Amino acid sequence: MASAIAAQAHDPITTKLTWTQEISRIVYRRCASCHHEGGAAFSLMSYEEARPWAKAIRDEVLERRMPPWGAVEGIRAYRDDPSLTAIEVEMMVSWVEGGAPEGDPIYLPPAPVIHEAAREATPAPTLVVESAKPFKLDHAITAVAVTPRDLPDGASMEATAYEPDGSVEHLIWLRSYRKAWTRTYWFRDALSLPAGTQIEVDASPGACAVLSSSAP
Ligand code: HEC
Repeated sequence: MASAIAAQAHDPITTKLTWTQEISRIVYRRCASCHHEGGAAFSLMSYEEARPWAKAIRDEVLERRMPPWGAVEGIRAYRDDPSLTAIEVEMMVSWVEGGAPEGDPIYLPPAPVIHEAAREATPAPTLVVESAKPFKLDHAITAVAVTPRDLPDGASMEATAYEPDGSVEHLIWLRSYRKAWTRTYWFRDALSLPAGTQIEVDASPGACAVLSSSAP
């Protein structure tokens, strides 16, 4: 342990990014809701607490495992997506690889007030589509959200809508699913699906994608 600390102290500092100026702000905004004393995970609220995790932080944000969200990027835009921006990822990685310096404490922002992220209530299900059992809409719907159901830990799910004119809408792609973090994914823009659209779910047997739509 003592030697680990000694080794850290001698990491050369090759970045201008510091904990007190940039990194604490990202952590407070994106990580603190879970990573605080008494929270869902160990605290990352202070430099002393975060510094020993620096390399793990780099790996988690690079692999986009943290903050946990589950949905693969670039498939569809959802509301409340907590994912880091590319610039935030780059800043955290550069900070770690540059020796993870603390910086001048006068720049440290006030600690955030932690409140459990308010989650929107799960919307009423309109349509439950089971894996490998394609469903054809007999009337148009306006889909607003999708929620996975009975998807085991570690599994993936892809839900896709094939419209009669040949266009394809990817509804969601979940990877390395964590049951404990089940949530509803609200589409940023509601999605009109005409009658005749076929919805297909590719997941483990028995798993379902639950679609919700706004009132007709
Ligand atoms: C929704 C809650 C939540 C948020 C937000 C969150 N984490 Fe986590 N994090 C966890 C939990 C819970 C664990 C414990 C291990 C697990 O269950 O994966 C964890 C584990 C970790 C680990 C340890 C991984 C390992 O090596 O085992 C690191 C590092 C980490 N988080 C960094 C971050 C960073 C950086 C952010 C913000 C960019 C963040 N987390 C945001 C819940 C969260």
